[in-house]
Parts: sequence; structure tokens; C-alpha cells
Amino acid sequence: MNGKIVSIPYEEYSAAHSLRESLLLRELAEDTKRETGEDAIMQVGHLEGAFLKLLVRISKARRVLELGTFTGYSALAMAEALPDGGELITLDIDKAYTDAAQKFWAKSPHGKKITLMLGPALKTIPALTGPLDMVFIDADKENYLNYWNMCLPKVRQGGLLVVDNVLWSLGNVLHPQDATEKAIAAFNEAVRTDRRVEAVILTIRDGVTVALKR
Ligand SMILES: C[S@@+](CC[C@H](N)C(=O)[O-])C[C@H]1O[C@@H](n2cnc3c(N)ncnc32)[C@H](O)[C@@H]1O
Repeated sequence: MNGKIVSIPYEEYSAAHSLRESLLLRELAEDTKRETGEDAIMQVGHLEGAFLKLLVRISKARRVLELGTFTGYSALAMAEALPDGGELITLDIDKAYTDAAQKFWAKSPHGKKITLMLGPALKTIPALTGPLDMVFIDADKENYLNYWNMCLPKVRQGGLLVVDNVLWSLGNVLHPQDATEKAIAAFNEAVRTDRRVEAVILTIRDGVTVALKR
């Protein structure tokens, strides 16, 4: 299992012909593979990282919230695309992973745009004020719908909500059995009927929802 649903040659070709990965992001990805082994699958990686960067640029985002920092790849990718004075707030519960993230952010001129908040996202989100230009949801899947409902009111009209792993390559979202599969399937169904947004599921990596707040 590689965390992808598109065949590897097409995935690799797409990454190779997309926005180039910065040297620091590549170094961060390699360090994560060395240090965390199989957990490295959690990282969004080059192709999705490039896509997130592009979304930040297209939406002209200045304030972005991320749920799920891990070792900091997606946070740094988005921070690289933010303008000077832009802000990326990222939430996680894991000190060891985020210590590694901070080590890399400190090496980047874009690291000063990133603010890490440690603690369960359900507790941290209510303290955050809007408006946000973009939210990237990539933390525990069982809470996706809670995160969506908590974050959506804080996103400005015309802002974006981006959600990772919505086709869940580690399970079966078409015929959900376990709690994670059921949570993601229920989340996708809720978004489908949510009139507050216009949303599309893209088959990048293992599924990314991009939603525009009406
Ligand atoms: C898939 S990883 C994020 C990957 C990251 N976006 C990247 O590209 O490197 C999910 C992260 O969510 C964090 N997490 C899990 N439960 C959480 C919670 N209740 N609140 C905040 N973060 C949580 C985990 O510690 C993990 O680092």
C-alpha cells in the first residue's frame, strides 16, 4: 500500500511534471521517511503539496488553517506560497512529530509565517478567530465532519476548504466497514448535500475534496 489510488507511474509522472519541490521540502520528506518509517505515508508528498501551494496562490490566501501537522511538509509547502505577512496556523497533538517539523521550518525563510498550536483540534479550533481564507483538514478522520462544521463558519465567503484522504486508500470508502471508513463515507455524503459550499472530489493521491464557501 502506498497511499495512492492512481497507479504509481502516472502519479510519479504527474509529480515530475508539476511545480518543482523545494530542496528543503525534499529534505524534510527524506528525513521523515528515515525517522518515521511507515508513518511517512501520512505526508501529503510532492504532488499534493504542489497542489496545495497552487490553491494558496489561486485563492490569494493570507490566512490558512491546517488540521494535522505531522512533520510539517504540507504546512511548509503552503507557507512557501503565502505572501509576506501571510499566516499559516497548524494544529496537532503530537510533540515528537511537530518538534521535527519545527526543526525544518526554522531553516526556511517562510518558517516565520507558521504558528503551531499543540493540543486536540476539537479544543483548539473554538479559540481561533476568523476570517480564514483556506482550511486544510488532514487530522484524525473520525472527526472530519466535526472539523468541517467547526471551521466552515470561520472561512470567508469565497474561501476554500480542502480535505485530504477522502477516498481513503487504506480502507474501503465504497463499502465502509470500520469506524474510519464509515466516518469518511459519512463525511463525503454530508459535503455532497451541504448547500453552504460548492465541492468536488479530485483523485489526487487518495482523494482530495476542494470546496468553495458560497
Ligand atoms: C495525516 S497526518 C498529517 C500530515 C501532514 N498534513 C503532512 O502533510 O505532513 C495527521 C496528523 O494529525 C494528528 N492528529 C491526530 N489526531 C489529532 C487531533 N485530535 N487533533 C490534532 N491533531 C491530530 C496526528 O498527530 C498526525 O500528525
